[in-house]
Amino acid sequence: MTAIYDNPLKFSRIDVRPANGTIGAEIRGVDLSSPLDDETWAEVRQAFHDYLVIYFPDQPLTHPQHLAFSQRFGELMDMPQLHAVDGFGQIHIIKRDADDDGRVIGENWHADSTYFERPPAAVVMRAVTVPEFGGDTGFLSMYAAYETLSPKLRELLDTLNVVHSATRIYGSAYHAQKRKFSANNAKVDLDIEAGDRETIHPAVCTHPGSGRRFLFVNQVYVQRFEGMTEAESQPLLRFLYEHCARFENTCRVRWQKDQVLIWDNRCAMHKAIPDYVGRARYMTRTTIAGERPR
Ligand code: SIN
Repeated sequence: MTAIYDNPLKFSRIDVRPANGTIGAEIRGVDLSSPLDDETWAEVRQAFHDYLVIYFPDQPLTHPQHLAFSQRFGELMDMPQLHAVDGFGQIHIIKRDADDDGRVIGENWHADSTYFERPPAAVVMRAVTVPEFGGDTGFLSMYAAYETLSPKLRELLDTLNVVHSATRIYGSAYHAQKRKFSANNAKVDLDIEAGDRETIHPAVCTHPGSGRRFLFVNQVYVQRFEGMTEAESQPLLRFLYEHCARFENTCRVRWQKDQVLIWDNRCAMHKAIPDYVGRARYMTRTTIAGERPR
């Protein structure tokens, strides 16, 4: 497998502290509340490509500062199923009240909205209220997941396409199940037909920034391989989901109030860990528009 990073010392403007040898790094020595000079920005962008998930402690950003930092990464996009902050339509809310017993948003490994023709490239999330324990987010590298498969399986996957839809999030499969989102956490009355609409992407894609290949399947949006039935697809998909979530492909980020984090939504998956029952958690996030996966 390719080493994710070769030398954190190549960074001279920012202090980069890798979480492990695969994914994730904490970044210190930078103030995100004002515009970054070009050299610092180049290092932040490089760290983002090297580590896929980078997080900056102690950044008490206002909403306009959150937007300005996010826009350095690209154009922002809407997320139809999330509520937005009043007056800031491009800042969305991930919220859970202490007494909420609805489904936790993002509790299974996924990349966001892969059923879009052009899924998001990245997400910039800011912690506003965090529980005193729990509520971490897990991340995993889909580069590592792909690179640690046997060459024959990689060869097969390179030829396959995958059918994605949001049926289990707001389409007919969602409405057929008991567990629902609370209305103040997610928009629960979206168009069911739009939820069931299918989009096809390759099972393995090339990252437009790094040129590296990554596996692009997830258990939330993927329905089956193109040209196969669900029953035929499930055994291989189940194997891939287990393989992706191997501990050595992952990192786990503990949130602190005012921590700002950006994840690459193409080559990384994430999972909101639902282990803080009875505690409140409130995050704000922006979403960076992406290209059609290829
Ligand atoms: C999400 O999937 O967008 C939520 C992530 C989190 O709450 O940690």
